Amino acid sequence: ITLDVERLVHAAEPPITDKLYSGFLEHLGRCIYGGIVDNPNAPSHEDLLEKQDKGDSVSQGRLGWRKDVMRHLAKGGELEIPMLRWPGGNFVSNYHWQDGIGPVSQRPKRIELAWLSDESNKFGTDEFIDYCRATGCEPYICLNMGSGTFEEALAWVEYCNGVGDTYWANLRRKNTGRNEPHAVKYWGLGNEMWGPWQVGNMLPFEYIRKAQQWAHALKLVDPSVKLVSCGETGATDWDREVIQTLISWADLHSIHFYTMIGHAKGSNVLGFDYEKNVFGPAAAEKHIEVCKSLIDMANISRVTQGMPAKDMKICFDEWNVWDDVKAPGTGSNGLEQTYDYTDMLGFCAWLNVLVRKHKDIGIACLAQSVNVISPLMTRPNGILKQTLYHPLALFSKYMKNGHLLQVPSFPDVYEGPSFPVYIQQGSYKPSYIDTVAVLVKTPNGLSIRLSVLNRHPEADWKAVVKIHGFKLKHVEIHEIYSDDLAAVNTWDKPDTITPKVTKLNDTEWADSIEDQDNWTVKK
Ligand code: AHR
Repeated sequence: ITLDVERLVHAAEPPITDKLYSGFLEHLGRCIYGGIVDNPNAPSHEDLLEKQDKGDSVSQGRLGWRKDVMRHLAKGGELEIPMLRWPGGNFVSNYHWQDGIGPVSQRPKRIELAWLSDESNKFGTDEFIDYCRATGCEPYICLNMGSGTFEEALAWVEYCNGVGDTYWANLRRKNTGRNEPHAVKYWGLGNEMWGPWQVGNMLPFEYIRKAQQWAHALKLVDPSVKLVSCGETGATDWDREVIQTLISWADLHSIHFYTMIGHAKGSNVLGFDYEKNVFGPAAAEKHIEVCKSLIDMANISRVTQGMPAKDMKICFDEWNVWDDVKAPGTGSNGLEQTYDYTDMLGFCAWLNVLVRKHKDIGIACLAQSVNVISPLMTRPNGILKQTLYHPLALFSKYMKNGHLLQVPSFPDVYEGPSFPVYIQQGSYKPSYIDTVAVLVKTPNGLSIRLSVLNRHPEADWKAVVKIHGFKLKHVEIHEIYSDDLAAVNTWDKPDTITPKVTKLNDTEWADSIEDQDNWTVKK
């Protein structure tokens, strides 16, 4: 792995946004109730203590925040999530936000049609904003374009952002006891409106017309909002048609992609779950490239018609490894998946893709942030860091606010069957060793962060890292390794998969280099 830092330091690259490590909270299973706030049926120990301290939660009917989860998600915490998408997901297409404001005891309990459960509405807009303020996360709200009306959407933006002496802005002041607006900048124009499972799903032309009308009026209510058009996987006719028109109205285009391991079983070649898992993110990388080309195409049309090109970014607002056989969507514990070491290798491949493609991605939200297909699990008396938690924490800490360095691609590539099938047929061959490198300016000088993923099921490689034009002073290695591809972290053995940290000081690293420009890592 050769990095020519001297040459690349000067490359005019935009910095890598921390928004690559954004999160997502949906009213689904135990994400909100049990993950973010206490579960009324099984309150956590800490929340009960908090209620007694404050003496107000019980009387107001509000549910206490799970402080343990909050500590990990918040600014300064290990995951440091910069932005949270809410309230769905499929849930939003049947969510009426006015049910979730005002005195908690008077809020209606509703049936919800995405996951077929009941919604208490105890956690609503003001609670979400309070949570974002307390954690330092930027709020990103998805609008209900399924059963929701145009008027409801306009009122939601006015409720959150209105600063005048108007009905909705005044209702917010009354409900929160504060004058300042919630100032929600990012709004999604519906969730997966193309999907047959979505309440109020539409054909492309129906969606495009409706979204364009909504976008026009939403920007009249608040011209500063940033709108996100509803995309599919980034590489479909839906995406092409939506981008072609909505580039003139929206600021970002959303895409959703899960490397679904269980999903393809039976409908595809059996017996290569490992490969689907660890090479699947290569498909997401391809979709990002296709989506970027669709944006370029739409811009060519704009320019041809005498309009300026628009810097529309991709909002990758749902991504993850998901085995829908292990983690089905039903029940009060919906979509809870135990992630093993192999899942973690797939997840690392995802993180490498996001960093490599960062120039085209404005926001990426991991689906989801707690309990639901999540790195972080809760039970009343504690939290569990799943295997995925560790690479996420490392990327969120190190792989941002810097510049991408070019890394040569590794010659040994996977050529067997993969998921989905067009990856194996195309020219795109994922390498066994997948790397990204980032250069960050720190108060102590320049710092190079290199992520090296070995996704070969058996082979070991000796990686020789050659760095030209850079004198190393300090080296830190975070290694996540297991001989058991199925290893998991459990409540009894929570640290089975955890990074091993090695720090080399000046003398130690100097001993391991062959000349002043090279540094050799043994593993
Ligand atoms: O994240 C789980 C679900 O996956 C979301 O609700 C939906 O948008 C997607 O299909």
